[in-house]
Amino acid sequence: MTKRAIILISGRGSNLLAIIKAVKEGYLKDLEIIKVISDNPEAPGIEKAKAEGYDATYVSPGAKKARFDEEGLKRYVGIIRESGANYIFLAGFMRILDEKIINSVDAVLNIHPSLLPSFKGLNAQKQAIEYGVKVSGCTVHFVDAGVDTGPIIIQRTVPVYADDTEESLAERILAEEHKAYPYAIKKLIEDKLEIHGRIVKIKE
Ligand code: GRF
Repeated sequence: MTKRAIILISGRGSNLLAIIKAVKEGYLKDLEIIKVISDNPEAPGIEKAKAEGYDATYVSPGAKKARFDEEGLKRYVGIIRESGANYIFLAGFMRILDEKIINSVDAVLNIHPSLLPSFKGLNAQKQAIEYGVKVSGCTVHFVDAGVDTGPIIIQRTVPVYADDTEESLAERILAEEHKAYPYAIKKLIEDKLEIHGRIVKIKE
């Protein structure tokens, strides 16, 4: 059965495009992306989604920097509930979700550019370089009320080289993000994810 998703973005939108590509190529044939919403009016991802034929708009989250204000929250929850979405996928969405948003769908997923629980929050690739880790990667996880704390679905690793910059590491991780996110979404929409506390089992 087709599942309906809203994708939330704040910027470039490359993960969004990877998900769109997976839908169009049939890898995610049972997913309908019903809306793309950005909390940033200048996010390049808005035009990219429109160019792919999707309904993509800026919706104001309110004046707060990292969260939603009351009006903004009402706007988001209203749109999500009205759309009948089953899922929300965060694709570079730079705002902490309120529980009211999380509770308005069956599940919310996020992708983070580090091997959680290391390097939560902003500038994860810079944190990894500065810490001196030799391996990093990306994590797709369920979103709970915390920041980058929900149960982990999949992680993909990359080496960190001595001469890496934040940019070169980010690029290497991004290539893995574009594989990890469609895979995690596929398992979710096929009902193949079983959550036991923090542990997510993937039924093959
Ligand atoms: C990605 O690195 C993602 O892991 C992080 O924000 C970045 C978004 O990039 N949450 P894009 O907008 O998907 O290109």
